[in-house]
Amino acid sequence: IDASRSTALLEAALDVPRNGNPGLTAILREAGVAEDAVAAARLVIIERACQRGESVASVWRAIATGQPPAALTAVVSEGRAILAGLAECPHEIDALIHALDGRYVRPAPGADPIRAGAAALPSGRNIHSVDPWRLPSDTALERGRQMAEMLLARHLAAHGRYPETVAQTLWALDTIKSEGEALGVALALVGATPERDGQGKIFRYALVPLETLGRPRIDVLLDVSSVFRDTFQLSLDLLDNLFRAAATADEPIEQNFVKAHVEAMVARGVPRAQASARVFSQQRGRYGTGVDELVEESAWEDTEQLASTYLQRNAFAYGGGRNGDAAPETLRSMLTTVQHVFQPIDSVEFGLTDMQHYYGHSGAVQLATRHLQGVAAPLTYAESYTGAVTMTDAADLLRLEARAKLLNPRWIEGMLSHGYSGAAEIGNRFTYLLGWGAIANAVDAWVFDQMAETYVLDDAMRARLAEANPAAAKNAVARLLEANGRGVWPADEATIAKLQAIHSDLEDQLEGVVSPTAERGGRA
Ligand code: BEZ
Ligand code: MG
Repeated sequence: IDASRSTALLEAALDVPRNGNPGLTAILREAGVAEDAVAAARLVIIERACQRGESVASVWRAIATGQPPAALTAVVSEGRAILAGLAECPHEIDALIHALDGRYVRPAPGADPIRAGAAALPSGRNIHSVDPWRLPSDTALERGRQMAEMLLARHLAAHGRYPETVAQTLWALDTIKSEGEALGVALALVGATPERDGQGKIFRYALVPLETLGRPRIDVLLDVSSVFRDTFQLSLDLLDNLFRAAATADEPIEQNFVKAHVEAMVARGVPRAQASARVFSQQRGRYGTGVDELVEESAWEDTEQLASTYLQRNAFAYGGGRNGDAAPETLRSMLTTVQHVFQPIDSVEFGLTDMQHYYGHSGAVQLATRHLQGVAAPLTYAESYTGAVTMTDAADLLRLEARAKLLNPRWIEGMLSHGYSGAAEIGNRFTYLLGWGAIANAVDAWVFDQMAETYVLDDAMRARLAEANPAAAKNAVARLLEANGRGVWPADEATIAKLQAIHSDLEDQLEGVVSPTAERGGRA
């Protein structure tokens, strides 16, 4: 393989703390490398020691005097092992054919190479997820606790008090890759810790005493994906049990927002058992919140309809024998108390603009708070795939992704080098921006302006897109026009007129492609 194509992966993967090592950047800082020289030193180590195989000692002489830090050798070995694993990835196709023949494929944990390093490689193995009895792992528990503290600190700084309820999205694949960091966040917010049996298996999420917690228990509303629901029944049970325990704890309601909300619901006539439901997903056998589907199909009138779709489709409570019982009053009531919406992003592979599910889940939860409360609860994402966790507001993250990816010539050329499927990915990004604009009101006009200029109004780029994938080019224009028509993107009339003309040209071309008989004078 071309080693230079692995640089970005190595930069990210080697910065993740692993096996007692603090990560490459931290090692360099600890060794006294000046802050403005760290990035360059990191690159020298990756290119010369990992990719070209030079000895750690000789590469270190290019960076500093004295002996190289001991931890550096382990990090360089990890980098070389990642490269060796990548070199074996082309066997993925062989493994697939092998599996289709009903033959044995070597097992491996479900992991991604940034978090897990070489352990995730090569691809093409039979991944076996994680041990559900050990979720969250100790590392995930600690990182989840850090995230919860950062989130509460952010909330306190902006609003002067703790949020009563945090709504949090729980996904299965992220749970597999991070070994349960999002679960760790929920436990920390409520104030709970896993209890283990003699074999280390977790059998309960137990409340930590309020004196130890030192702050109120935050209530948590869990927006659980259908995949998580179908994969981690045990975690659903442990969580439901935790919320029931919090609701009945002998504690003042000023210090226990779970109990406060349950008591308030009971006073309004909601049955007590239903009032403690906090784990919500779709009905058994149903998949998807429904909100991103409506965006995809342009099948919505107004955001009220998107919000009510979320409320209808996701009102099914799980865990502790609830079995997907409908609990719409509890969901609605909880959403009126949500003061912050949160989701960790587990991987650099998929950000907010790379798929429909972030706005279909946490975005839709925020929209529901907007409709039920009149103002939207803040929506914060944690990026948790490197050594350091960062917290960013949805709108800021969308700006960042627009600059770093969607409008970045390197990203664009990378996508276009994949021909049909790369162009399809580009076309889809216009749908996702529309989704974010509609659901969270979180896409600045300049992003749409520059997306229009870069991909559609630029004749050469439009021709490349349309050549690679005419449907993708048409989707790009159609979604821009839809964004304008729905009031999500204010564009001037001249721009809209140009886009309309381009749209009808592309439609003509596309009809020529899908129906070649038209050129021969139509059906005989
Ligand atoms: C999940 O891993 O739970 C998930 C997968 C696809 C879409 C949404 C969530
Ligand atoms: Mg993911």
